[in-house]
Amino acid sequence: MKILDQSTHAGSPISYAGIIERIEILRSTLRWSTKLERPEIERLLRQSSALRDEVMRMSFKERFVTAAAAEPTRADRSPGECRRALLERSFVFEGTFGDNPKLLEALEIAEKAAPTDLPVLIDGESGTGKELMARVIHANGVRADKPYISVNCGAIPDNLLESELFGHRKGAFTGAFHDRKGKFESAHRGTIFLDEIGELPLSGQVKLLRVLESREIQRVGSDEPTAVDTRIVAATNKNLRRLCDEGKFREDLFYRLSVIHLTLPPLRERKDEIPLLLEYFGDEAAEALKRRPVKMARRLREFLSHHSYPGNIRELRNIVYRISCLAGDTADLEHLPADVRATLPAPTAHGATGKGGTGAPSASSLSEAKRAASDEAEKAFLERGLQDAGGMVAELARRCDMNRSHLQVLLKKHGIRSKDFRNLNS
Ligand SMILES: Nc1ncnc2c1ncn2[C@@H]1O[C@H](COP(=O)(O)OP(=O)(O)O)[C@@H](O)[C@H]1O
Ligand SMILES: [Mg+2]
Repeated sequence: MKILDQSTHAGSPISYAGIIERIEILRSTLRWSTKLERPEIERLLRQSSALRDEVMRMSFKERFVTAAAAEPTRADRSPGECRRALLERSFVFEGTFGDNPKLLEALEIAEKAAPTDLPVLIDGESGTGKELMARVIHANGVRADKPYISVNCGAIPDNLLESELFGHRKGAFTGAFHDRKGKFESAHRGTIFLDEIGELPLSGQVKLLRVLESREIQRVGSDEPTAVDTRIVAATNKNLRRLCDEGKFREDLFYRLSVIHLTLPPLRERKDEIPLLLEYFGDEAAEALKRRPVKMARRLREFLSHHSYPGNIRELRNIVYRISCLAGDTADLEHLPADVRATLPAPTAHGATGKGGTGAPSASSLSEAKRAASDEAEKAFLERGLQDAGGMVAELARRCDMNRSHLQVLLKKHGIRSKDFRNLNS
């Protein structure tokens, strides 16, 4: 990082990173804009080649550092080597875990982007680690010891947005009793993380764009601009390009924010990581809950290895914490949250199950296999019945003409809790 500082030429009006940023903005404008006319395209191309000439005139030393950082990833490296190499370069992972090639690629891009001031846009489904990645970028940059301010753009009411982001002067509106700093000023010299940027209303987008272009903010109720030096990392679980096409997101803001564009893969595309993540969060939960790491029944482990995790890593982590809290020594299917249990594959007539099956454990004798299969069938019958009866044991007893207390005994035997089935259909 120090070397980078020294490499910015004192006499040069704009740093290497600054030029690269401009070239990247021009390139992404040229690449993605559908509305450019030919003269405009030519003007942008001329600008871009002028900037390239400027780069070429920079001394070897000035260019060297970033060029070394931008060295292409060798495709033949194993995930282990990539991770080791990152570790050797003192990369700060901030608790990011995983060996999936797509994740490591994202981390390597983050590593290269971190020491620059280039804006980064991170997209990916909810729970894929976008916020964590933003912290990684901050922690590996020259601003690591400066503020990191996180703003959830989707959680601020429209009428408060401007004041939240840019601050206000006393008396600017009813209730503005004091001067107040906005998030941008709080993040001065540091990083601002704009989460759920796709939720920002168009009026807020215009204001944000102005700040990005001028690097100045104006508090609500003030005419005086204040310079802010803030690195921007934005995240979204929406497809911003599609929002641009639909007219819901400004294209020019999209180019500004996505100079570096990172996409985090959903967990279902990196299922190879699930066993490792289960272990990792199992240990973490054990420490947090001051217990021994929970063991998992084979069928639970099987299920968790194949579950589709619509909530991605956040969902997996929550499940592990839940079962670590609820289970004794060994967790089983009954410790899963009700909505996840509802996705358990329905058993076939033979008690075997399909993908991710909870099938009878492999038995060493025929009679054992029969008993296991019968147990499975009994359990599946009860679960389905309870589901249909809305979790009411009395109703299930009536429907299948069984003694209610016998039914309770069976439910207990299988660790089925009727209340887990109460709100499944609502
Ligand atoms: N690769 C990872 N390694 C370890 N923990 C992760 C990883 N990705 C996400 N997490 C954890 O999962 C949870 C959700 O991550 P978060 O960054 O908030 O996701 P997003 O912002 O995409 O919704 C957090 O507790 C985070 O620490
Ligand atoms: Mg998030």
